Amino acid sequence: MSQAEGVNVQRRRVLIASTAAIGAAGVAAVATPFVRSWAPSAKAEAAGAAVTQDISSIEDGQMIVVKYRGKPIFVVKRTEDMLTTLDDVVPLLSDPDSSESLQPEYCANPTRSLEPGVLVVEGVCTHLGCAPNYRPDVGAADLGGNDWYGGFFCPCHGSKYDLAGRVYSGVPAPLNLPIPEYSMDGTILTVGEA
Ligand code: FES
Repeated sequence: MSQAEGVNVQRRRVLIASTAAIGAAGVAAVATPFVRSWAPSAKAEAAGAAVTQDISSIEDGQMIVVKYRGKPIFVVKRTEDMLTTLDDVVPLLSDPDSSESLQPEYCANPTRSLEPGVLVVEGVCTHLGCAPNYRPDVGAADLGGNDWYGGFFCPCHGSKYDLAGRVYSGVPAPLNLPIPEYSMDGTILTVGEA
């Protein structure tokens, strides 16, 4: 590979990934795999070009992060157990039906997604814009114990979101995490294109 090609490949590594796996004790362990994605050039990306990612290598319960228009896009492979929590957590949420939140029409449903098993959501807290942490560890003592069904926790001021990006009541963040335009073709995810 030439040096120029090497630089190109480097630039295409826009996907900074984090993963969490629930261990036997229910404790989340986080690693950071790097996954290649087909990204547009920096100029095209600034103009809002779509970003394509093969998500076939994401494991159940794992999250990766794709960069789109300078924002982190969280992509989570939700398990059946995770999907069950979306009903259980409803009484704790501020806007469980996402009626005041941003999402494409095709994601205006209980799972806020095209495919229930795949969550695609902007990783930007709706309070003041910090990046929430992925915390799938159900019952985490530091996040409310039995009232924590897994989701995202913003370390800046303590906002909490469920596994569909819906915000808990009584936290600083006013809205659910936005869902971007995206499409799925098999295991190929395209963010920025319906
Ligand atoms: S920025 Fe997330 S809680 Fe304030």
